[in-house]
Amino acid sequence: MNLDDLHVDLDRLHGRLVALGKIGALPGGGVSRLALSDADRAGRDQVTAWMRDLGLAVTVDRIGNVLGIRSGEVDGPPVMMGSHIDTVKAGGIYDGNLGVLAGLEVIAVLNDLGLATKRSLAVGLFTNEEGSRFAPDMMGSAVHQGFLDLEEALAVRGIDGAEVGKELERIGYAGSEPTGSVRPHCYFELHIEQGPVLEQEGILIGAVEGVQGISWTEYLIKGVSNHAGTTPMRMRCDAGYLAAAIAVEARSIAREMGGDQVATTGLIEFKPNLVNVIPGQALITVDLRNTDEALLQAAERRLTSFVEQTADAEGLDVSARVLARFEPVSFDPSMVDLVERVARDRGFTVRRLPSGAGHDAQMFAPNCPTAMIFVPSAGGISHNPAEYTAPEQIRAGADVLLRVVLEKAMK
Ligand code: GLV
Ligand code: MN
Ligand code: MN
Repeated sequence: MNLDDLHVDLDRLHGRLVALGKIGALPGGGVSRLALSDADRAGRDQVTAWMRDLGLAVTVDRIGNVLGIRSGEVDGPPVMMGSHIDTVKAGGIYDGNLGVLAGLEVIAVLNDLGLATKRSLAVGLFTNEEGSRFAPDMMGSAVHQGFLDLEEALAVRGIDGAEVGKELERIGYAGSEPTGSVRPHCYFELHIEQGPVLEQEGILIGAVEGVQGISWTEYLIKGVSNHAGTTPMRMRCDAGYLAAAIAVEARSIAREMGGDQVATTGLIEFKPNLVNVIPGQALITVDLRNTDEALLQAAERRLTSFVEQTADAEGLDVSARVLARFEPVSFDPSMVDLVERVARDRGFTVRRLPSGAGHDAQMFAPNCPTAMIFVPSAGGISHNPAEYTAPEQIRAGADVLLRVVLEKAMK
């Protein structure tokens, strides 16, 4: 059989994507399945049911990662495909879900043909990739690959005060499998780009070269809550002012550094958060990212010194907490070459590009040959219910995944 003749069944893959998107669906479109929420549980139940229907041996590990394994002809580490099914609070149906469901589609194609692979295959869904509810992001894959201590992860408290370990138990996904017991031979992740590059250039497939470094910091600022009308400006200890100044400075840093540097203030909470009261407390997060570790460190240093100096000048107390810190990673060049070659052989336009978003693949990259396949995101929109990738683009990405997996699993 010529492996190049094998193709995914778009209707089946797209049908699963749409069906999973109904779990935690938002009224106007998109989906809300924060990690370890009831909706996440329902999504996991659906995906594990599909895994079992496909004959996969399903395991759940102690951080809630789910792996479905299809045995190969020889013993040994599997060729792994994976991603996540948790979403941001108001997200789209594609981010993460596509990578998991395309993995199941690869299995379904092989099952239909009764085709055995030499190496085993595994499809993984990794806990809390998004990090929106519990930091850090990529939590499940980081524990799986030994970059985050299991007990530390289980003890993490989320934005709502809930604890990872207790939430895993509550939703029935505190598994017994030791984390990292299955070491992949290699790892592939199909994902939507979540940015504008492929669409703007009219290119169908991205061969991802690596993922930029991510630095998340939370600042808790304490001042003095007081009357907005009677407190002279010189007598204020205004926690809200410093939070606003940090947001502006983060953006200035990114603008002045240029290149790949980006900076985002995604969360600000004031206490008491009232029109006529000087905030006595402010909580703010800053997300800094760069493809270059030295530049990312320079951005971090500049922000830290700004926060310290401004807090001092304003008489405020600030404590900084690192929520996530991941260095940039490069994917194995031979794996990136493979994605590029297969995409070309399939007749698709392809270019190399770095990933701006974090992905489970970056946790695997230091430990095994890893690659990612990107497909375009309409308007570059993601982490938004309006996220969209056309069915034909999904088919192309999944066909590339199928072919690269076979390349590695048949030898
Ligand atoms: C995860 O999706 C991230 O890049 O923040
Ligand atoms: Mn994702
Ligand atoms: Mn995401």
